[in-house]
Amino acid sequence: MQWQVPLFDPDLGEAEIAALTAVIRSKWLTQGEQTERFERSFSGFVGSQYGVALNSATAALHLALMAHGIGPGDEVICPSLTFVATANAIRYCGAQPIFADVASADCWNISAASIEACISPATRAVIVVHYAGYMCDMPAIMALAARRGLKVIEDVAHAPGASLEGRAAGNWGDAGCFSFFSNKNMTTAEGGMLTTNHEDVAKAAQRLRCHGMTSVTLDRHKGHNFSYDVTDLGYNYRMSELNACVGLVQLEHLTERNAKRAALTACYRHTLAARGLVGVPFDKAPGNASFHIMPILLPAHVERSAVMAGLRDRGIQSSIHSRPIHTFSNFVGTGGDRHPLPLTDMIGGRELTLPLYPSMTEQQVELVCDTLHSLIGG
Ligand SMILES: Cc1ncc(COP(=O)(O)O)c(C=O)c1O
Repeated sequence: MQWQVPLFDPDLGEAEIAALTAVIRSKWLTQGEQTERFERSFSGFVGSQYGVALNSATAALHLALMAHGIGPGDEVICPSLTFVATANAIRYCGAQPIFADVASADCWNISAASIEACISPATRAVIVVHYAGYMCDMPAIMALAARRGLKVIEDVAHAPGASLEGRAAGNWGDAGCFSFFSNKNMTTAEGGMLTTNHEDVAKAAQRLRCHGMTSVTLDRHKGHNFSYDVTDLGYNYRMSELNACVGLVQLEHLTERNAKRAALTACYRHTLAARGLVGVPFDKAPGNASFHIMPILLPAHVERSAVMAGLRDRGIQSSIHSRPIHTFSNFVGTGGDRHPLPLTDMIGGRELTLPLYPSMTEQQVELVCDTLHSLIGG
């Protein structure tokens, strides 16, 4: 479908093509020096001591949990209003996701209070998600975790470049898990990064991303090792040099592109507030957001699928972030929703995501808002 205004539009150009060409000419395509450079640059950007490049945020979440010893019999608290990967990673470890409700009708992140309500003797960790790129209340969540002896893993898929009190998203908890999927604020096509300040967590993630092996192909190519041992049941979660070289270019533009997202979001907020027909969350979000997506709350009486079809018929793509995980058939009856989730259920039925990407124009924002208002009867 040819969209007049797509949901997202990755910024890719000559610099990425040149970087890819150079990597292909080098003939070293698997995890190597580009990946190491990307790890250093990205962890430097986040301010964390270690960065472990992986092939997805899902892999990062899985390894962050494994590195903290999460396993069968353990419970991990997370939001239900997130992409399914957040909870799937917990289940990969044989642990039980327990869903916490979001903080309020304005703040769609889980909070210290909603997490605390879910703690049981089996709780070992929390995965917080900075939904849409808006920071969770990390000072309160970290204080709760310290008091109750819980590990904190940040799902930073939406929030590269976001910060609170001068500290970056992904550098508050025990580990940060970033996504570079193609619709994200910066992309490597597929890809992820685990950031941490714990050497043991970084070492475990490095080992587990490569089958639990004690040396990687590049070490052997360089003649540093002739053989290896396998010390853990690991995976193939490696990033390739092709992904890493694109990530290096994309990272250079992240701050400037997040600023464009911020300006467009301000335009959306202003235009939508003038009519007052829809709700716009995170009005009072703390810190600096990364403005990954533009979620709104439709009025209760409006049929969401009709609005999405109306937008589509006028060439405007929209989406839903996200159907609450506890409602998926693979999760129904598995016990994750033993605490009530009234706000999550309300938002899950009424949320609509409008287009947002750095090259979007303010005229396009106005077109989306005018079309939306005409569809919901304003
Ligand atoms: C909140 C959240 N967590 C995790 C993921 C998984 O990311 P990846 O596709 O890199 O595994 C996504 C992807 O959309 C996401 O939105």
